[in-house]
Amino acid sequence: MSEKKYRVIQWATGTVGSAALKHFIHNPVIDLVGVYVTNPEKVGKDAGDIVDLPKTGVLATDDIEKIMVMEADAVLFAPFQNPDNLGHICRLLASGKNVISPAGPFLPNKWLPDETKRIEEACAEGNSSFHGCGVHPGYSGDILPITLLRLCDRIDSIEVSEVIDKVRNPMIYTEMAGFGLDPEALLANPRRSPETYKHFYSSLDMLAKALGKEIEEVTVKFEVATALKDIKHLFGEIKKGTVGGQHYEWTAWCEGAPLIVYHFYWQLGDSAEDIDPLWEEGESCYRVRIKGDPGLEVRLMGDKAEDGRNPFHGLPWTGLAGATAVQAVCDAKPGVVSHIDLGLIQPKGLVRR
Ligand SMILES: NC(=O)c1ccc[n+]([C@@H]2O[C@H](COP(=O)([O-])OP(=O)(O)OC[C@H]3O[C@@H](n4cnc5c(N)ncnc54)[C@H](OP(=O)(O)O)[C@@H]3O)[C@@H](O)[C@H]2O)c1
Repeated sequence: MSEKKYRVIQWATGTVGSAALKHFIHNPVIDLVGVYVTNPEKVGKDAGDIVDLPKTGVLATDDIEKIMVMEADAVLFAPFQNPDNLGHICRLLASGKNVISPAGPFLPNKWLPDETKRIEEACAEGNSSFHGCGVHPGYSGDILPITLLRLCDRIDSIEVSEVIDKVRNPMIYTEMAGFGLDPEALLANPRRSPETYKHFYSSLDMLAKALGKEIEEVTVKFEVATALKDIKHLFGEIKKGTVGGQHYEWTAWCEGAPLIVYHFYWQLGDSAEDIDPLWEEGESCYRVRIKGDPGLEVRLMGDKAEDGRNPFHGLPWTGLAGATAVQAVCDAKPGVVSHIDLGLIQPKGLVRR
């Protein structure tokens, strides 16, 4: 069967961007045509060499203007958070390229009116589409629970949790995120702004709309756990008595009652001997719990590895949730497109024997 090909540019090759780049190199319905990098060591390198795959003939560039004029159907835009991102997204859209971005503003929403307006204007200028992708915000807090609604007779509330043991799933930003600080100091000055939920609002709103409801208010709760011993992680060590865990809770209220609750449990360790309180035991995962009739629970985690544990693939999933949407976003109507606009995506090129 001859399949339509989609010309794609990968913008940034960090953890998320590399997962997408590998997919583009592997997938026969995708033609990788460009790679944008900022790291001087990657400039001029073959895209295949950047992700330990065979050569592709596509060389990475740090020349933004070259990317802007390149002929392509889509750009997977995955840079570090940077104030220039929105301007770059809008230029790409205005140049006629569809943009899929895990770097925000995810899906523009009522809390981000200026970003929404700029993106919509750029889409109109370039006759292009914008899609915000990710695993959270994204897949675990919207598509996954929306899919599960079909298995319920009645729904009272939906809880989506991100549970990560940051020792087993280290991130370079561990200290920047406030681990290792004095608990009272972090409580007084959380590193994740109380406003952050606005970036997750598109997922909250999409889920509420799928239920036929409007969100009236979102409330925020933040608590910390204390390290019960010195804890080593890949990028350093935190001391006993400092912040060893963080729990953010965002509750979306509808008709005067909590309807959707997002939890973020970030823990350094997975045992009650590591931190107090240990909110969550077991493997890192995304978990959806629906309270209603019948209630249900789904955990999203990696397939069991040789060590008997289930790895956590949050970052690669973020890249792949975007990469596998390329075909649908390119074929979609111009403008901002959510999962609800895209419907049931059926990505081609995944079965490769
Ligand atoms: N929605 C979600 O669920 C979700 C989940 C995780 C991450 N994200 C977002 O996805 C994006 C990528 O995350 P990541 O984990 O891949 O990050 P990362 O590993 O830190 O990599 C980001 C890449 O951005 C480029 N970069 C470095 N400094 C930069 C700067 N000052 N300005 C612009 N770009 C710069 C580099 O690309 P080169 O190496 O190619 O030069 C770097 O490798 C971030 O914006 C993150 O917030 C979203």
